[in-house]
Amino acid sequence: MEQFEVVGGARLAGEATVAGAKNSVLKVMAASLLAEGTTTLSNVPDIGDVPIMSEVLRGLGAEVAGHAPDITITVPEELGFEADYQHVRRIRGSVCVLGPLLARAGRARVALPGGDAIGSRALDLHVMGLERLGAVFDNAHGYLVAEAGQLTGAQIWLDFPSVGATENILMAAVLAKGTTTIDNAAREPEIVDLCEMLAAMGAQIGGIGTSTLQIEGVDRLRPAPHDVVPDRIVAGTWAFAAAMTQGEIRVRGAGHEHLDIVLDKLAQTGASITTYDDGFVVNCTSRPRAVDVVTLPYPGFPTDLQPMAIALNSVADGVAFVTENIFEGRFMFIDELVRLAADVRTDGHHAIVRGRERLSGAPVRATDIRAGAALVLAGVVADGVTTIADAFHIDRGYQHFVETLTELGAQIRRLGADETLL
Ligand code: UD1
Repeated sequence: MEQFEVVGGARLAGEATVAGAKNSVLKVMAASLLAEGTTTLSNVPDIGDVPIMSEVLRGLGAEVAGHAPDITITVPEELGFEADYQHVRRIRGSVCVLGPLLARAGRARVALPGGDAIGSRALDLHVMGLERLGAVFDNAHGYLVAEAGQLTGAQIWLDFPSVGATENILMAAVLAKGTTTIDNAAREPEIVDLCEMLAAMGAQIGGIGTSTLQIEGVDRLRPAPHDVVPDRIVAGTWAFAAAMTQGEIRVRGAGHEHLDIVLDKLAQTGASITTYDDGFVVNCTSRPRAVDVVTLPYPGFPTDLQPMAIALNSVADGVAFVTENIFEGRFMFIDELVRLAADVRTDGHHAIVRGRERLSGAPVRATDIRAGAALVLAGVVADGVTTIADAFHIDRGYQHFVETLTELGAQIRRLGADETLL
């Protein structure tokens, strides 16, 4: 397994360019299944999850060609209907083929993704919504098996604005007969991106960007080219990197409008934020002040940036209170951060972080994509050498992470499998 090795002490400065969002590209790739023919996607990020999702689509009979930032997906008239465990367990986001398969093939057999290092991640809301549209589910041999004749529009209330459930129900409803309303829908920018692609394909969707989506089913959709929305979580990671290292980073390619609350939190740490049409600059000239954070569905503070908030607070001036409301397992990486001498204590879904002047380098392990990125940033502000094992997690969601950090002035290198055995 590859590791990253970081020598601490750098102030990060320069530019970072942000590509398309991981959490959007996987969904718009799945949405391409809804129309026979060739879909062209641009601004596709060069990340590990895209080739895995491509394998899922190939397993369903689609052809995927090209390479980030441009790929094409050619979908046959007759689709397969099985997404196997080998791929689904590697990227849980691949369960978003469930809605398109039910809409187009009338049936689906999708492996249950199993446990996840950030929490249990149930699928009950996905199933409830699709059942309301007329699908019948069974759970056999580790697979969710669903059958549907013609899906029929329905009124659906979500107990929680789940991103994945909203997407699956939406992608089934666009080809259902009649009207579907999804109330308490998630409204993350990646959902807006998916809605815009579906609308360009001919779907009738009202309320885009709000928590009530009204979908008027149509008989057919046609392929439409789509440019993936920039990755706000990657942009936010660079924003935190600047503040944590008392540096200055210009983030290009990602609008600040999807990061309002994040940039406001960074301003509270003492960083100065300047916004531009194509991005923003975060500049921090002194030790950041501690800042409290509470994660919530969009437009609240994103759970995917919670590890960065804890990492920043671990070197900030003061004490911060961080509350995680989305994934119960998302504090698991804190044990790794504590190996770097961070002073963090948790009680349920609350964490108290007492800032230290400096962290102390040590070997740690990435437990998921975002935790991995946060541990690398912690390594940059730690004395000495930090190695981050299981770096594949970071490669799943961050394009050219080591190269970008090197350009920003970090001392970081990727150790191959042979070197890590030494
Ligand atoms: C997506 C993102 C992830 C992000 C999360 C929240 C992708 C590939 N991943 O994950 O990066 O952190 O949104 O912004 O897009 N839940 C249920 N039942 C369900 C579905 C969800 O109880 O049927 C719960 C989950 O266990 C979790 C919470 O709802 O506690 C949020 O999950 P959800 O919004 O669905 O996140 P994902 O779509 O899995």
